[in-house]
Amino acid sequence: MVAKVPAIAPTVDILLGNLEDGVPVAEKEAARAGLVTVGKTVQMGDTQLWTRINSLDSPWALDDLTTLVTEIGNDLDVIMIPKVEGPEDIHYADRLVAQLEARAGLTRPILFHAILETARGVSNVEDICGASPRMQGISLGPADLAANRRMKTTRVGGGHPDYVVQGDPPAGADGVPDISAERSRSQQDLWHYTIARMVDACVTHGILPFYGPFGDIADTVACEAQFRNAYLLGCVGAWSLHPKQIDIAKRVFSPAPEAVAQAQRVIDAMGDGTGAIMLDGKMEDDASVKQCHVVVELAKAL
Ligand code: GLV
Ligand code: MG
Repeated sequence: MVAKVPAIAPTVDILLGNLEDGVPVAEKEAARAGLVTVGKTVQMGDTQLWTRINSLDSPWALDDLTTLVTEIGNDLDVIMIPKVEGPEDIHYADRLVAQLEARAGLTRPILFHAILETARGVSNVEDICGASPRMQGISLGPADLAANRRMKTTRVGGGHPDYVVQGDPPAGADGVPDISAERSRSQQDLWHYTIARMVDACVTHGILPFYGPFGDIADTVACEAQFRNAYLLGCVGAWSLHPKQIDIAKRVFSPAPEAVAQAQRVIDAMGDGTGAIMLDGKMEDDASVKQCHVVVELAKAL
């Protein structure tokens, strides 16, 4: 993995050294040491270096923070904290990291990114977002969240064929609805509520919402659909668990040229942005021109 870092770094916005789930217990310390080596030796260019430390209730979190801030604090942009339950977790990490930064003589703060992956975390998401000026953003963690909530999906993100809305039954020959007839079924998004809640909490506190992992690496089509739902609801990015998912994320989280051109057309037609006009049979006004600015500003930023 370390050997691949120089080639992957220029293709992504963020590279994250994961120390938590996915790293076997016997290799926790070797993974931490490997990340220190990466921080000290690899040139990341414009790509940010993040880490996901072990959860605060684990035996490794204290050494993760102490070692990483002390050894590579200058190279680390953001620390991702998993399984955050409430603002108290952020307060604890905030104080500890402040002490370590001071001891290491760092001159800029390391930021925090929380994973939303417990029911209590979702209940406290507004307070988590506002718990420290270090808060950079939040990612949805659908796997742990499903387990913690006792949802019955065993997938890492994405939909489930049994989570559906059933179309109405057609009338039978006697005019009575025939519930045994073929009818439409629409699969629904298991993650809609949580993503929407996370986006609102992040925007309220001026930080960034991200979709998290999509575990079915082979199903690039479903991955794209899940990422696109998150993009449309306001997320700024998603994790890539495999290089295959990098291009999907870039495509989805960048507005399509036609969408940018249409948004610019509305902005141009709206003049000073006030009042209301009809364009292609559609009403455009102050609010819709603001929607168009979101798309154009994102395109410019990218
Ligand atoms: C990510 O950490 C998840 O649990 O989905
Ligand atoms: Mg998790």
